[in-house]
Amino acid sequence: MRIDVVSIFPSFFDVLEVSLLGRARGKGLLDVRVHDLRSWAHDRHRTVDDTPYGGGAGMVMKPEPWGEALGAIASDASTGPQTTGPVIVFPSPAGEVFTQATARELAAREHLIFGCGRYEGIDERVFAHAASLGEVRLISLGDYVLNGGEVAAMAMIEAVGRLIPGVVGNPDSLVEESHEDGLLEYPSYTKPASWRGLDVPDILLSGNHGAIAAWRREQQLERTRARRPDLLDRSD
Ligand code: ADE
Repeated sequence: MRIDVVSIFPSFFDVLEVSLLGRARGKGLLDVRVHDLRSWAHDRHRTVDDTPYGGGAGMVMKPEPWGEALGAIASDASTGPQTTGPVIVFPSPAGEVFTQATARELAAREHLIFGCGRYEGIDERVFAHAASLGEVRLISLGDYVLNGGEVAAMAMIEAVGRLIPGVVGNPDSLVEESHEDGLLEYPSYTKPASWRGLDVPDILLSGNHGAIAAWRREQQLERTRARRPDLLDRSD
C-alpha cells in the first residue's frame, strides 16, 4: 500500500520509522511518503494560510498549495501499479467518526493520501477539487478538537497499516481484539498465576478450552455492557 501525507509539520511523522510500521516499511509492505505543504507555496515566506473571507478568528489554509500538492501526488502515484484511484483523507473534527470498520475499508485500498489541515481549516474549495482526483473522506478521530490533522492521521495510519497482510506477525491476534466483532476484548493474564495477592481466574488454568471460550465471550459482553453500551445497541 502507498500512503502519502501532506503536512506543514512533516517531522511529526518521524515516528513511523519505529516499531511495527517501521518494519512494514522495511519489508516493502508499506510505502509511506511525507511531504511538506510549503514545498508548493511559492512566495518568499512560503505562505500557506490567509485571513478568512467574511471575518472571524484564526487563519484558513490557502487553496493553491493544496491544489498543487494533491495534483502532483495523485499524478505521480498514477504511474505506479494502481488499479483504483486514491482515497484522499482529510482528518477533521467535522468528519465522519473513524472506527475499525473505516480502518478495514481504507486497508483494502492501494493508495491513501492524508491532507493534514491546521489553523481554522482548509479552504472549502480544496475538497471539491480533490474529488476530481480521487475519493474524498473527511474523518474525525472523535468528538474533541486537536490542533491539526497530524495526530489524527498518525492514529489512522497505524490502525490501517496493521491490517495490511504481513504487517502483524500473527494474524490471529487481529481477529480477537477489541472492536473486530463489535465488542471489547476479554481480559488477558500471563504468569505468575498469583501476584501480589491477585489470582488469575481458575477457569483459565482448567485446560477446558470450551469453557474458556464461553467465559471469554461472557467477559466481552459484560465489559461492553459496563463500559460501552452504545456498541451493544449497534451490534447483533
Ligand atoms: N483535527 C482537529 N481535530 C480533529 C479530530 N478530532 N479528528 C480528526 N482531525 C482533527
